[in-house]
Amino acid sequence: MCGIIGCTGRGEATLETLVDGLRKLDYRGYDSAGVALSGATGVDVVKKAGKLDALVEALSGERERLDGTVGIGHTRWSTHGAPTDANAHPHTDADGRVAVVHNGIIENYQSLRDELADAGYSFVSETDTEVVPHLVARALDGGAEPEAAVREAVSQLEGSYALGVVVAGVDAVFAARRDSPLVLGLGDGANYVASDVPAFREHTDHVVYLEDGEFARVEADSWVVTDADGDPVDHEVHVVEWDPEDTGKSGYEHFMLKEIHEQPRALRQGLQGRVDEMRGEVTLEEFPSLSPSRVHLLACGTSYHAAVYGAHVLHSRGVPAQAFYAHEYASATPPTDDALVVGVSQSGETADTLSAVRAARRRGAETVALTNTVESTMARECDHRLYIRSGPEIGVAATKTFASQLVALNLLALDVAPGGDDREAIAALRDLPGDVQTVLDSSRAAEVAREYADADAYFFIGRGPHYPVALEGALKLKEISYEHAEGFAAGELKHGPLALVTERTPVFATVTGEDQSARKTIGNVKEVEARDAPVVAVTDGRTEVERYADHVLEIPETHPHVAPLLANVQFQLVSYYVANDLGRPIDKPRHLAKSVTVE
Ligand code: G6P
Repeated sequence: MCGIIGCTGRGEATLETLVDGLRKLDYRGYDSAGVALSGATGVDVVKKAGKLDALVEALSGERERLDGTVGIGHTRWSTHGAPTDANAHPHTDADGRVAVVHNGIIENYQSLRDELADAGYSFVSETDTEVVPHLVARALDGGAEPEAAVREAVSQLEGSYALGVVVAGVDAVFAARRDSPLVLGLGDGANYVASDVPAFREHTDHVVYLEDGEFARVEADSWVVTDADGDPVDHEVHVVEWDPEDTGKSGYEHFMLKEIHEQPRALRQGLQGRVDEMRGEVTLEEFPSLSPSRVHLLACGTSYHAAVYGAHVLHSRGVPAQAFYAHEYASATPPTDDALVVGVSQSGETADTLSAVRAARRRGAETVALTNTVESTMARECDHRLYIRSGPEIGVAATKTFASQLVALNLLALDVAPGGDDREAIAALRDLPGDVQTVLDSSRAAEVAREYADADAYFFIGRGPHYPVALEGALKLKEISYEHAEGFAAGELKHGPLALVTERTPVFATVTGEDQSARKTIGNVKEVEARDAPVVAVTDGRTEVERYADHVLEIPETHPHVAPLLANVQFQLVSYYVANDLGRPIDKPRHLAKSVTVE
């Protein structure tokens, strides 16, 4: 994901400070990087596609020229436009008076761009960000003072942003945020702006976290934060006390909780530019038109649950599909020539999955890497790539990447299925980020978790597309709480696991809609209720499951393929709060690793 660093007061060390800051943001993942240094007469920019080393090489001949003492730098994780030099940040106006770095997505950029283009401002990139320097330039052209010009530009933006802006001749970095983190670092004779503390942690531990809607002017010896109206806002200066690997929680106690809350943004990124609701179409950039006669989905852990879900959705759209544990694939029926083999892997580095995908390739199958990680081994080795665009996930227990995988699998299914797209599903996907936000804002999961924190075991049940979410709910809970939890297909409970059900084993059931499948799951809920087990139902209010449940965790009504994504958010929160009540080290569960590179 994108990273921002800005500094003022570092004198001759400005460039070095920016590059070091970008290195500290490396963990976020990116595909291009750049810096801008502002001096008395203009702003100098160097930016490069690829990793930081490419930027450093490009800078080697430029040190003389880059003598400005106010600077901004950026690592970009592409959303609008490919990772090219031109699309890399910082972006400037035509005259080189203004440079801007940006995290987030400017939703009204197209109309702003059209308006600016009509007024004669010419664009050189495909990014949403480039409208910002032109908006500042237009305000400057209209006679505004630099700070007023930046404010005026910011006031026209819709969407999410963390912005760093420099203007030639002004010894300040301007910063603004909405829905994307930004923090000030307060040093001795030098101050900083960054998307995350590690970027400047080596220089200072005094920080101010900007709030949504705030604007900051940061100079070498002073800083001021104002609201959207320009009125000063008082801010507490925090002293950070962490070892570097603890960084980046943006005020959340754990990465896991932060990442659960990042899901609306992650999903928005995953959908950006890929669904056209007006035309009822899915368009997967740089993804070929494929019509596979069958699909094999290979994965491990949480990604396997995504694969099971993907197989269900593909199948229901008329494409025969099957999910396999990657490590069991060797003993499965080999893919036929016309099978499409999809490796589902957040990291793109999981050895089991890589090995299975390689074996399929050797047998002649066409392969897809469905991954979060640009330039991962799987992404490089497969014939095609479908990026889930979740942004980096630090917590070992996958949360937002699972949600993003489910969205990407929906898009894949809509794209490859015969018989065209499904407007209702597309509309539901478009609404999904907002619906997830509704669940996050209103969830009673913490309360429910507290009530059952000393249970003997936890069972999760679901049917159809809810089944993999029941599996995932149980996996999440066991990974981070160390409590015994199992997920079952709702119909399977009575074939054995029911023997385990007691009044000390809460059963979490996910059931939505009012079709036959929902009615059958409610039948399974009644079976556990009759055996005195507490029932927690995740539902959209259209079922009558409430009548048999001790607690209800509500989700908005949506398309049947999308409802499991919302149910999953409730389960994530239950797991988190059970583990938190038990005092577990949530982000680093014992024995587990984020990326498992051995078979
Ligand atoms: C490890 C992690 C799991 C993850 C699995 C697959 O086991 O602990 O959380 O789901 O790897 O990872 P991948 O990167 O392939 O999705």
